[in-house]
Amino acid sequence: MRVLALLDGTIVDPQAPLFRADDLGVTRGDGIFETILVADRQPREIGPHLDRLERSAGLMQMELPERAAWERAVQAVIDNWPWDTDPEMALKLVCTRGIDGGDGTPHGFAMGMQVGEDTRRKRRDGVAAVTLERGYAPDLKERAPWLLLSAKTLSYAVNMAAMREAEARGAEEVIFTATDGSVLEGPTSTVVIAQGKTLLTTPPSSGILQGTTQGALFRAAERAGWRTEVSKFPASSLFEADGVWMCSSVRLVTQVHTIDGTTVKTDPDLHTELTDLYESNY
Ligand SMILES: Cc1ncc(COP(=O)(O)O)c(C=O)c1O
Repeated sequence: MRVLALLDGTIVDPQAPLFRADDLGVTRGDGIFETILVADRQPREIGPHLDRLERSAGLMQMELPERAAWERAVQAVIDNWPWDTDPEMALKLVCTRGIDGGDGTPHGFAMGMQVGEDTRRKRRDGVAAVTLERGYAPDLKERAPWLLLSAKTLSYAVNMAAMREAEARGAEEVIFTATDGSVLEGPTSTVVIAQGKTLLTTPPSSGILQGTTQGALFRAAERAGWRTEVSKFPASSLFEADGVWMCSSVRLVTQVHTIDGTTVKTDPDLHTELTDLYESNY
């Protein structure tokens, strides 16, 4: 099931070709994207997602169609989704730099997709993760803006390769580490750990993507009296924590039960508490 909208709000056939072969998004992965959860017609964290799309475009020095165009396309997809049979949708916003050698006009679309059974199972049962080196230092972002650290670019081939490596090692998630051994993020998620009544995550200054789901969780947790902290922590903290989660828009707050083959602490009540906190935003 796919519902595809152009930025003028037109619904088009998702099976018909949309991009030219010389579009820079096709030939170089030169573009940006967002994935948003829409539940019961409500897009979650739409403001933070559109803000992040703008930040990514800024880091890419790329023109971005106006916000109203994205909002129009989002609404068109929502209006055409079969909500009676499918109460959840993963909504992708994609924007490429446009034609190679062209006038720089970006090309964008919004596409709604079903949330797969595999994702629902991970939400429910948790995941086994492996730590993998990401190969950069946590202070590289400021020094090397051309590496586009913390931008959500279309060049996710490395992230997907890391997921295949996890599968080859008998796991289904990855926790990337920096050259100093600190925790970065997952290929498509933010790492959050609990230490007593404190929730801790890695700072975006380390070059990770600022997560909208982690942001929503921390917002609700603070309201409920939790302490939240955004600071660098070593991979060893994963094994000492009271719980480890991978947060992302579609996977939500997924518990990690095993890291590098070692069982880590899981507490079903704590997991329910954090999931309920996240959901209390909507
Ligand atoms: C690299 C990376 N980090 C973190 C996230 C989590 O972000 P969000 O919670 O906004 O989906 C994503 C989302 O896909 C991601 O690709």
